[in-house]
Amino acid sequence: MRLNLDSKTAVVTGASRGIGLATVQTLIDEGVRVVGAARTITPELKDAGAIPVAADLATPEGVTTLIDTALAELGGIDLLVNNVGVGDAVEPVGFLDTDDARWAATFDLNLFSAVRATRAALPSLIERRGSVVNVSSISSRLPGTGPVAYGAAKAALVALGKSLAEEFGPQGVRVNTVSPGVVRTGVWVDPGGFGSKVAASVGAEHAAFLEQIPQAFGLTTGRITEPQEVAALIAFLLSDVAGNITGADYFIDGGAVKAL
Ligand SMILES: NC(=O)c1ccc[n+]([C@@H]2O[C@H](COP(=O)([O-])OP(=O)(O)OC[C@H]3O[C@@H](n4cnc5c(N)ncnc54)[C@H](OP(=O)(O)O)[C@@H]3O)[C@@H](O)[C@H]2O)c1
Repeated sequence: MRLNLDSKTAVVTGASRGIGLATVQTLIDEGVRVVGAARTITPELKDAGAIPVAADLATPEGVTTLIDTALAELGGIDLLVNNVGVGDAVEPVGFLDTDDARWAATFDLNLFSAVRATRAALPSLIERRGSVVNVSSISSRLPGTGPVAYGAAKAALVALGKSLAEEFGPQGVRVNTVSPGVVRTGVWVDPGGFGSKVAASVGAEHAAFLEQIPQAFGLTTGRITEPQEVAALIAFLLSDVAGNITGADYFIDGGAVKAL
């Protein structure tokens, strides 16, 4: 299957590692010119051939910097991947330990970064009949399994995608959501990352905790998802091959979500 993405331009948020980096690499392999943003510009992002933008996407100013730079560097935006998420405020704590500052920081990164980036990119996306993919999480459907503010922000992101698909579909802009389950990124595998904190909170050793994730999460395939697999789904949804798919939310979770 040919995605015919060459000659397109893209913006990817949270591009320096994990799912965002894999998406940048996949799009560049398809011939797309990509602007990728994160606070830290990693060697991997530079090596991928992206135009890097250093910005804090939890702030309105950071998102403005990103979209202004992308419009100047690329001449216009065909594809937008609102991938940035998790972030420093997402810790394995309960509702009573989630104060206003944690709620606000979680929503700024996991919801409002997408709101702001999409709003700023929309004139160009409309002009070019472009496509948007938002990266949510199965936490939107299984909010009891993760931090409360994170699940709420990701559920709101799914709703945002549906609203945008309805409002801008008649102008040629498609908007879809990809909702991963556990993906092999630093969130789970890095020492000091979210996964290591969850392991510590239940008194488990980090490596042993990672080992038992497929069983604990009921993964039908018996394994977690690789970042490249999420990137491939994103690239498909961005492409005209998926030209009649809009307002959809695709799980990529090894079968973790059992409900219809
Ligand atoms: N991994 C999973 O199991 C999983 C499951 C479901 C959904 N997801 C979703 O998938 C998306 C990507 O997750 P991931 O696992 O790839 O995360 P990751 O490996 O932690 O990467 C996050 C990316 O976002 C950037 N970032 C974080 N805070 C930022 C900020 N304030 N401003 C700008 N950039 C920022 C990071 O770079 P800097 O830190 O240098 O800024 C990095 O490039 C997120 O939306 C997450 O919620 C992940």
